Amino acid sequence: MSLAIICSGGDAPGMNPAIKKFVDYVYKCGKTPYFIYDGLEGLIDAKIKKAVHSDVAGILHNGGAIIGSSRSKRFYEKSYREKASENLRKFNINGVVVLGGDGSYKAFEILNAEFGINFVGIPTTIDNDIFGTDYCLGVDTALNVIRGAVDNIRDTASTFKRAFVVETMGRECGYLAAVTALSSGAEICVIPEMNFNKEVAAHFLKKDLQEGRSYILAIVAEGTKATYEIKKWLEDDILMETRVTVLGHIQRGGNPTVFDRMMAFEFTVRAVDLLIKNKNMCKAIGFSEGKFTALDIFKINKGKYEIPSNILRDLHFLD
Ligand code: F6P
Repeated sequence: MSLAIICSGGDAPGMNPAIKKFVDYVYKCGKTPYFIYDGLEGLIDAKIKKAVHSDVAGILHNGGAIIGSSRSKRFYEKSYREKASENLRKFNINGVVVLGGDGSYKAFEILNAEFGINFVGIPTTIDNDIFGTDYCLGVDTALNVIRGAVDNIRDTASTFKRAFVVETMGRECGYLAAVTALSSGAEICVIPEMNFNKEVAAHFLKKDLQEGRSYILAIVAEGTKATYEIKKWLEDDILMETRVTVLGHIQRGGNPTVFDRMMAFEFTVRAVDLLIKNKNMCKAIGFSEGKFTALDIFKINKGKYEIPSNILRDLHFLD
């Protein structure tokens, strides 16, 4: 039996530990591991190679993914999907472990429906926006990268008596911004999931400033597209000199935290076990309420992730 691993969409810290565990564990189970390079683009172009232990030596601590990733436009065309499936058959690959987000899950759901490709997904995205799992690989590392940046910004913000708007990634999901705002003690948090009431916020901020507050930290999720609106409001209404920091892709890099390494191992072992034991797999592993689960992809792809209510509750003091 041969199993392959692919990374698809935006990379996330934790992919390399998962790739290493995949190779080591598949051999341990007496099966043969394969790499699919460069995501769906590589699958279409048959960039597939048998993996050996030395390929994954010394990669555990690195961010990114040694096998590359991609977002594929060609995959939207059935002829390319057919080519991708043929390539898997040519290499006698019986199942694929997919590291990616909901876009990757959707792609493999179609491959399964059209060509019967077996796969198990591992939720891997810094956005933490996949339905059916509380945790996606890479999130802890990204949050710690953001925390480091925000801690540094606070130093200069407090010295200069300025406001800072920090924009976090996450697509339509405000999870990174919400957790960052809480764990950094930010005064303002703007996320797509919550209404931001400028009038109420202005009332409290002005009072705080009168009582001696010297700086303001605003965390804004990219999905709100409100970064520069908040900057203008802080300048025009709150009367603070304001700077903007868009953290951008630095949030996707960095050495995976211990938590992400351990989660990578757990997700991967479960994904491989499912593929070894079952012939037609169209599922993804999740981690909910402290337990690992295996959910049908069509259910995941139909659902919508929601930020846990305790996080939203605690953000309400900011509005
Ligand atoms: O999905 C991960 C992510 O980093 C999002 O947070 C962000 O919106 C997007 O990918 C950026 O995509 P790209 O790397 O293609 O610019």
